[in-house]
Amino acid sequence: MSNRLDVGALKKDFPILDREVHGGRLVYLDSANTSQKPRSVLDAMSGYYERSNANVHRGTYLIAEEATAALEGARAKVARFIGAPASREVVFTKNATEALNLVAKAWGRANLRAGDAVVLTELEHHANIVPWHQLHDELGIEVRWIPVTADGHLDLTDLDRLVDGAKVVSFAAMSNVLGTMLPVERLVAAAHGAGAIAVVDASQHVPHVGTDVRSWGADFVAFTGHKMLGPTGIGVLWGTSEILAATPPFLTGGEMILNVTKEGFTINELPWKFEAGTPPIAEAVGLGAAVDYLSALGMDAVREHEVSLTSYALRTLHERFGDDLKIHGPADPAERGGVMSFSYKDVHPHDLTQVFDEYGVCVRAGHHCAKPLMRELGVAATARASLYVYNDESDVDALADAIQSAADFFSH
Ligand SMILES: Cc1ncc(COP(=O)(O)O)c(C=O)c1O
Repeated sequence: MSNRLDVGALKKDFPILDREVHGGRLVYLDSANTSQKPRSVLDAMSGYYERSNANVHRGTYLIAEEATAALEGARAKVARFIGAPASREVVFTKNATEALNLVAKAWGRANLRAGDAVVLTELEHHANIVPWHQLHDELGIEVRWIPVTADGHLDLTDLDRLVDGAKVVSFAAMSNVLGTMLPVERLVAAAHGAGAIAVVDASQHVPHVGTDVRSWGADFVAFTGHKMLGPTGIGVLWGTSEILAATPPFLTGGEMILNVTKEGFTINELPWKFEAGTPPIAEAVGLGAAVDYLSALGMDAVREHEVSLTSYALRTLHERFGDDLKIHGPADPAERGGVMSFSYKDVHPHDLTQVFDEYGVCVRAGHHCAKPLMRELGVAATARASLYVYNDESDVDALADAIQSAADFFSH
């Protein structure tokens, strides 16, 4: 077990982990869906509302200046956290879905034509599939797929052929179903070698692994605040200054405007060009506090903890359930995040997770917004337990006990 994170102490930072459910403790194993929030994030948001609430970029009075400084300060923190060369390259969106839609609908509509190819992988979240399907219907672009192997890796055998002539290669840095960590640099190099742009959906990566957008070398990176200890309602699209400058606005009105006449409008500078309307100010403050919290833990320690706890979980579940429990995705914890999708015999995942709930164990069941991958795996749904900084061996043991209870229940 990692001794770099003091999980016992850390759990106390998360007020929700103190509550009881069904007469027992809350065992939260659904952080790939959304993470819990530390007190510091909650306090930063309520502190903002209690002391500095005002609209941004407009006021000439003290609290409006404070609000603007809070929003832009949060942007600077996010930029540092992901190694962005400049704050203006960090665009606040509603979530990762909106960030990916911005890429497809604003950059894509302006730059893609009928017959242009966009390469995705079979393990993408719907947020990185449907916007491209829409461009297929609207513009006639072609969507190509990098296949996934039975053990949850990408099959890169045909990579050169797949990217040949493509305009976009867009992929998740880490699978939200299998936990697989994708070879980001290799895919970015293949994209650029073929003259395509590289778009990384880092929604599952940024919360769990130190992320440096410069070393990835991608053109766009999207992620979401609520999976990284921050609030809902805020996501991030990072793009190079060059590509953001060459991308038309997505939504229009409010902050993205420099001037409006009866004849037309002129567009604001980066990043406000992409931030139409009043931005998510309190949410940005909360995200900034989440970044502070993760930075204080250290992303190396966060990853080390996750690898070590995932090893423990894979080992424990295998020892207790053997082949009755199928865990999808890479067997080696070093190649994956702490996301474990599993099937127990032929018990439906929803039935499993309903029994888990009786023991306070929160695990998601379903297709995890990755239906094409489910089809490749040959399952309609899985149960998915996902780990984060506030989980420890006792949570994994509680999961194993809950699986045992479900197994006993459904064997009758
Ligand atoms: C890999 C991946 N991409 C995108 C998303 C979408 O995130 P959001 O719902 O916050 O837009 C998720 C969330 O489940 C995800 O796991």
